[in-house]
Amino acid sequence: MTNKMWGGRFSSGPSAIMAEINASIHFDQRLYAQDIAGSKAHAAMLAKQGIITKADAAAITKGLNDIKAEIDAGKFKFSAALEDIHLNIESRLKELIGEAAGRLHTARSRNDQVATDFRLFVRDAADQISEGIEDLMVALAEQAETNAATLMPGFTHLQSAQPVTFGHHLLAYVEMLSRDLGRFGDARKRLNESPLGSAALAGTSYPIDRMMTAKDLGFSSPMRNSLDGVSARDFALEVLAACTICSIHLSRLAEEIVIWSSAQFRFVKLSDKFTTGSSIMPQKRNPDAAELVRAKPGRILGAFTALAVMMKGLPMAYAKDMQEDKEQTFDALDNMALAIAAMAGMVRDLEPNKPNMLAAANSGYATATDLADWLVQNLKMPFRDAHHVTGRIVALAEKKNVLLSELSLADMQSVHGAIDASVFKVLSVEASAKSRTSFGGTAPNNVKREAKRWLKTLKGKRG
Ligand code: ARG
Repeated sequence: MTNKMWGGRFSSGPSAIMAEINASIHFDQRLYAQDIAGSKAHAAMLAKQGIITKADAAAITKGLNDIKAEIDAGKFKFSAALEDIHLNIESRLKELIGEAAGRLHTARSRNDQVATDFRLFVRDAADQISEGIEDLMVALAEQAETNAATLMPGFTHLQSAQPVTFGHHLLAYVEMLSRDLGRFGDARKRLNESPLGSAALAGTSYPIDRMMTAKDLGFSSPMRNSLDGVSARDFALEVLAACTICSIHLSRLAEEIVIWSSAQFRFVKLSDKFTTGSSIMPQKRNPDAAELVRAKPGRILGAFTALAVMMKGLPMAYAKDMQEDKEQTFDALDNMALAIAAMAGMVRDLEPNKPNMLAAANSGYATATDLADWLVQNLKMPFRDAHHVTGRIVALAEKKNVLLSELSLADMQSVHGAIDASVFKVLSVEASAKSRTSFGGTAPNNVKREAKRWLKTLKGKRG
């Protein structure tokens, strides 16, 4: 049997293997809502321009609404013989309304149709991801406000460096996520132009109104070149690039949660909702959700790579290669949204173990820089000399197995005679964090103010 939608000039149907490699309905059925929205906008425009009758447009619209209801309800029978979502819907439309269905495809091609559907889908998904990012930012900023003064060791090289507050640490992720949000927003602006009306590649001789369909579908304007209209996929690449970077940010926080919740660190406790037990080791609470979030950049960058390589070197305009743009993009968008939601849940339920964090902040000589700064400010020592003197004092503390603040004044003076008792004021981790009042620094007052500022901005945005 020849294909009933395009088989006019063929005497036999496709081989089974051809049909299998050609069909996309098993994945592009996810575009049904966008496909129907695009078709309704197109039909309304054709009628307004007098290209089809108002009666045909009304029948088409009603038929499309009925098909949408069938698919929503899971009652639609998708057929692989009809290749893709576009032909499945058009064929059903013919069953429902007869001849008028054949007029819908006037001044249109599956090339501009699929470009439009996919753009709408990626736009919706990116908008949902942006909302998820905002929600995660709220969760982080709320924890940051509560923990604006919760002390922990700050790390470089994963070695205790200087005391910071837990709130400050969490707000670093809010900053990263705000840039992610910006990337999704920027991508959306460039994405939001309509390919519809590019037709197969060259535009059309019918007097169509591309402004009307663009507006109807929420696009800011029609794309200005029909070849570009059917062949551009950089909108999806951009959104996948934004997803990749965002997923990398989430994976860093996920890794920290894995480390912090380990028995060796015990900085935080994850809620039961986001941990699992081991089937053999009863003591375990595994941070599976965090580990899975940590893993997601693999498949998300994979989707970006697949699409980039598929597009590379493709000549103008549409080529069937482009049918391969969807599956991995869908997968990446789904997993991005899921990872964000899982992270928001984990962050909301996270319980910091303040005594352990404080003990860790105290243990690594994390106030050594404060001691060096004291020497610079009070003894007018050049910083390099102060660094050296401090190093010797740290070595002494290490030898005696005490904290810097537990050394006696005599111990200090054995390294440098001019040190006096006022040095002890800067050696506590509280004093150290509190003194970091520079713009962007970790002082609890700064952190509280920043957390509040973020919460106000985010809540204002969400109304
Ligand atoms: N299923 C196709 C895709 O996803 C739709 C466009 C087909 N166009 C064509 N000329 N065969 O790309």
